[in-house]
Order: sequence, then C-alpha cells, then structure tokens
Amino acid sequence: MEPNLILTALFLISAAFTVVTAEYVRPQPRKDLQFPWDPKPSSQPQQVHISLAGDKHMRVTWVTGDRSAPSIVEYGTSSGKYSSVTQGESTSYSYLMYKSGLIHHTIIGPLEHGTVYFYRCGGQGPEFQLKTPAAQFPITFAVAGDLGQTGWTKSTLDHIDRCLYDVHLLPGDLSYADYVQSRWDTFGELVQPLASARPWMVTQGNHEKESIPFFKDGFESYNSRWKMPYEESGSSSNLYYSFEVAGAHIIMLGSYTDYDEDSDQYRWLKADLSKVDRHKTPWLLVLFHVPWYNSNKAHQGEGDSMMAAIEPLLYAASVDIMFAGHVHAYERSKRVNSGKSDTCGAVHITIGDGGNREGLAQRYIHPSPEWSVFREASFGHGELKIVNSTHAFWTWHRNDDDEPVRSDQFWMTSLVSSGCVAERRHELRKILISP
Ligand SMILES: [Fe+2]
Repeated sequence: MEPNLILTALFLISAAFTVVTAEYVRPQPRKDLQFPWDPKPSSQPQQVHISLAGDKHMRVTWVTGDRSAPSIVEYGTSSGKYSSVTQGESTSYSYLMYKSGLIHHTIIGPLEHGTVYFYRCGGQGPEFQLKTPAAQFPITFAVAGDLGQTGWTKSTLDHIDRCLYDVHLLPGDLSYADYVQSRWDTFGELVQPLASARPWMVTQGNHEKESIPFFKDGFESYNSRWKMPYEESGSSSNLYYSFEVAGAHIIMLGSYTDYDEDSDQYRWLKADLSKVDRHKTPWLLVLFHVPWYNSNKAHQGEGDSMMAAIEPLLYAASVDIMFAGHVHAYERSKRVNSGKSDTCGAVHITIGDGGNREGLAQRYIHPSPEWSVFREASFGHGELKIVNSTHAFWTWHRNDDDEPVRSDQFWMTSLVSSGCVAERRHELRKILISP
C-alpha cells in the first residue's frame, strides 16, 4: 500500500475510534435507595461491621435499639459452636433531636490467619461469618471511596462482593448522612453483608464532618460508629492511624484535621514511619480523602496545602501508593513527587467513584498533565493484589451497564525492589530525628 494510503487508513481508523469514544454516554446519577426499615427486636444486632484491631485481632461493631443489650461476641471456627466469648464496650451519642442506638465495639482474638470464623453479637440474633487475612502475600484489597447509598452504590457493592478480596480500604465519604443521622443507620444496614464478612478500614471525608458552630465540632457520629485501630497504632485520634496486614503497612490520614509540622497528626506520622520495617512490610500505602494529584476540574487545588506539608516526609519514606477520594471519578498517576514524575515517588490513585448521590465529576483540565496516566469519570471500584514483596497488580473496574468492566490495569514493582528505599534511608532518618 502507498504511504499516503496507509496514513489515510490510519486517520480513518483513529477518527472512527474517536467517534465511538465520544458517543459513549455516561450513565446518570441514581437516586438514594429507599430503605423500608426492617423492624427487628430492639436487642437484635444491626449494622454489623468488622475492622482490624492489632495483630491477630478484629473489632466487631454493631448497634442495638435496646440500651441494656450486652456487648458480647461469641465466636468459633464451626458454625453454631462458639468456643470463645469476649466482652466489649458500648457508646452512644445525641445529635439535636436524634438519639443513636447503643453502639457496641468488641475486640475478638487472638485469631488464626486466613481462617473463617462464625460469630454472634450480643448473645442472640443471626450468625455472621468473617475471614481473617492471610499472614503472608498474596493479599487483595478492594478500594472504593465516596460510597453514599444510591443505586450506583449498590452496583459497586455487588461488584466488590464478587471479587475475592481480603480487606476493604475506603478513602473517605461513607454514608453521605450530611447531618441526617438516620442515614448513618441505613448506610450501616446497606454495607453489613460485606462489612460483617471482611474488615473495612476507613478514613474520613468532608461528608463525615457534621459540625455545628459552638455546639458540635464534627466527626462525632463517624467516630462513634466507625472506630478504627488508632489506640493500637499509638495515635490519640480516630482520624489518623495505621495498621499492618500481610506484608503491607497502611497509613490512614485525615484531610480535615491539622497536618502541619507542629500538629499532632504530623508528629504521630513521624513516629509511625520510624516503626516501619520494610523487611517485614515491604509495601507502604497511604490513604486520605482529598487528592494531591488531580487533573479533574472538581476540587482543584484543595489538597495543595496538605501536600506541601506532608509530601516531603512521605517521599523520604518511599510510599508506594497513595489513594484518595473526594473527586467523583477515577484517575491514576505515574510515580510522582513535587508535581512531576519521579521513579522514587508514589503512584497516586483517586478513586472517589463509589456511587454517591452527587453524581460524577466529568470536566477535566486539558491538556492532561504529564503525570496523569488514566482518567475517567465513571463509577466503579479498584482491586489491588499484592502478589509478593516486589510485585502488585492493580485493576480498576467501571460499573458499566451494571457489569464490572475492567478498564484500567497495570503491574507495579515496589520501591523496596527498585532500590529507592535503600537510597533514601539516610534522608528519612534525618527528617525523623529532627525536632
Ligand atoms: Fe468528599
């Protein structure tokens, strides 16, 4: 074929592809789900969810209407046969006219790794089943933020339920209760089938901040209901903490609490990083709500001040991946630092695409920044399979026509294996010992 003809053919093919892409019609936002409130005996457990609580331990959280219901969890490795029982604690809160049920938190363990346990809350009600993560790689994380409770949320949760994951990571914006406290209860019921079976590790977003000037300073509902292992990780606040699972050290930060060098959060972060042993946990992940690398027009620049305060420390610490939410779309960066690609920087993934009622953020900055690899305004979820100390496989699944379409995927190698961790060990030590 003549060179001109080849060029013409290539042009026509690319034009046809462009037209097909442009004709893709994005689904509309879906309405909030209506929950016919299922009347249960007031002592029966509701909104059951679990979270990792230190080595070999799991926190079981549930709510009862009955304020004298016991905070006990019976559990064992055979259905109906509970060889252990643990007593926990309970709390409640009021918010204007609303009074929460009794919120129970009970830590069970020591538990064997990679094992199915059967458990019952408060000495009655249905039996639940959980699986503890394995002690070693491989491990799979499901990742989706900005969930809300719409038809799209349901679609995302159905897809996550189909994947064989060990732990759910949620970078903020859970229920979209937005001051309407009963929405925290309906959200708890919506996620119970998944969150009672696998640990859900969450950090908070702007929709968790329900402050009223001079009266409520925010996060009371979130902190009461979604207690995370902050005490277990030496933190004084439920808004930032860390945990370790199967060779990964995972840090959850708060985008809406102080983060400058004099803040408690920054001091705790330095102390936490000083304890990380990359031989034991070669992968280092960080989650927070407001993205630092975002080429969507939504929430442009909102993460800049946190990035200026914390990125140098996290760069010296050789963080492999940072997950954020907030922007209702998906975006993946190259390894980056200080606004440009850097082979020793972190991969940033914005995954605020869980399906909330505010819909998608569809307007992007053009041209796409040099560091942006993939960006798309669709609802969906991600899966991170860490295969071993050197390799991990990331996939992003779009909720297209209610089928999880694998739209983005890539293999990555750890910063331990590329030599970056060893290269910057001294720089990290210098920052960590500075006052
Ligand atoms: Fe948000």
